[in-house]
Amino acid sequence: MQFKELSIMPAILTALEKENYSVPTPIQQEAIPAILSGKDLLGCAQTGTGKTAAFAIPTLQLLSEDNMSQTGQRNIRALIITPTRELALQIYESFCTYGKYTKLKSCVIFGGVSQKPQEEALQKGVDILVATPGRLNDLINQKVISLKHIKIFILDEADRMLDMGFIQDVKKVIAKIPSKKQTLLFSATMPPSIEKMSNAILNDPVKIEITPESTTVNSIDQYVYYVDRENKKDLLLHILKDKSISSVLVFTRTKHGADRIMRQLSKSKITAQAIHGDKSQNARQNALSNFKNKTLRVLVATDIAARGIDIDELSHVINYDLPNVPETYVHRIGRTGRAGLGGVAISFCDFDEKPLLFDIEKSIRKQITEVKEHPYPLLNTTPTVKVTQPRRESSKTAASKKDPAAKKKVKMAADGTLKEKKNNNNPYRQGRKGKVDFKLK
Ligand SMILES: Nc1ncnc2c1ncn2[C@@H]1O[C@H](COP(=O)(O)OP(=O)(O)OP(=O)(O)O)[C@@H](O)[C@H]1O
Ligand SMILES: [Mg+2]
Repeated sequence: MQFKELSIMPAILTALEKENYSVPTPIQQEAIPAILSGKDLLGCAQTGTGKTAAFAIPTLQLLSEDNMSQTGQRNIRALIITPTRELALQIYESFCTYGKYTKLKSCVIFGGVSQKPQEEALQKGVDILVATPGRLNDLINQKVISLKHIKIFILDEADRMLDMGFIQDVKKVIAKIPSKKQTLLFSATMPPSIEKMSNAILNDPVKIEITPESTTVNSIDQYVYYVDRENKKDLLLHILKDKSISSVLVFTRTKHGADRIMRQLSKSKITAQAIHGDKSQNARQNALSNFKNKTLRVLVATDIAARGIDIDELSHVINYDLPNVPETYVHRIGRTGRAGLGGVAISFCDFDEKPLLFDIEKSIRKQITEVKEHPYPLLNTTPTVKVTQPRRESSKTAASKKDPAAKKKVKMAADGTLKEKKNNNNPYRQGRKGKVDFKLK
């Protein structure tokens, strides 16, 4: 099948030709006609199989057709929300690419950068808004954004957007959108508990599942190295000696861990940059664009880079630490093996991480090949003993005893004022056991 056979308007077809897209991927073949017919949709397809175009193409087309009968000022008629700033930016770029020859205007907003240019862009009028939920809610509260003209509402990485970390923000957004709208949910993973919850926001949806839930792409070769925790850094250096490994994304569990690995690599004359939530937005975008344009061989990242990020010809993903949630493994390794290309995913597994590996293999229904021949085999076969002795009283806790108000976690805001720190609701720290009350109807 060709894109031409999907009743796509000439302005979009021309843009697709320029991108050398001729054959729609399976999710595009199924989702585009369903979305054009106005249905709500839940679309699950493996990483790197073109879900972005599957929702962007019909959204552009529906709004263009709607535009023809419309006169006067532009209103936000399509809203796409995503979990990370980098992904929001990437999706915005895709809308610009596929919509280049339409009359529609897109805009992207996210936190960590000044709000002013975003406000100015919005004031000029936009049809399509891509956003992360925090900044979106801020601008809604400040009445800079109105969602009352929304016709198409899209959650990319929908299972992530509907889990504990984001659900409250998403509920606030939904409360501001007209109830009559088309809702589209997309992800490569959809745990049953979240799929059930998605029924609360979808209206008689078409469900498209291209491959069984949470499966990994066949073209990615997956390997595991059993290794003691303290030898992981040497094993990484050993693997990176192979110069045929052209670009490598290394995932760690913590921001601190990402920085530490980056320093260790630098000491061994391997240039690396890190991307995580404590870096400035400038540093985050700079590291990612150096990696995307191949001037940087090694990018060390936390799970902010696990979902959606599209890096051309990324050859290797290395899980320096295994993720706690199996779905995260699927997304992490899915940064390679995209758009029909091959890739290699290597996971380091120490003794304590064996249960995580077991969960991952169960979830992806695949046994990961063990690499036995390497210089740092696993020797430790006892669990790490966690120290449970009471900690020495720090000056902070001593102060909080004197002044109970000091117990509240506070952090310094950019303007020098102290702000109460938000609870950390990151479900990837807590597993995904928590239940979320999702009553919308
Ligand atoms: N029909 C097509 N023909 C050729 N290339 C395509 C086509 N559709 C998408 N691509 C390319 O495939 C790559 C992956 O697309 P995309 O990022 O949309 O994947 P995804 O399914 O959203 O993956 P993830 O689950 O990781 O977010 C992109 O580089 C995109 O340009
Ligand atoms: Mg995607």
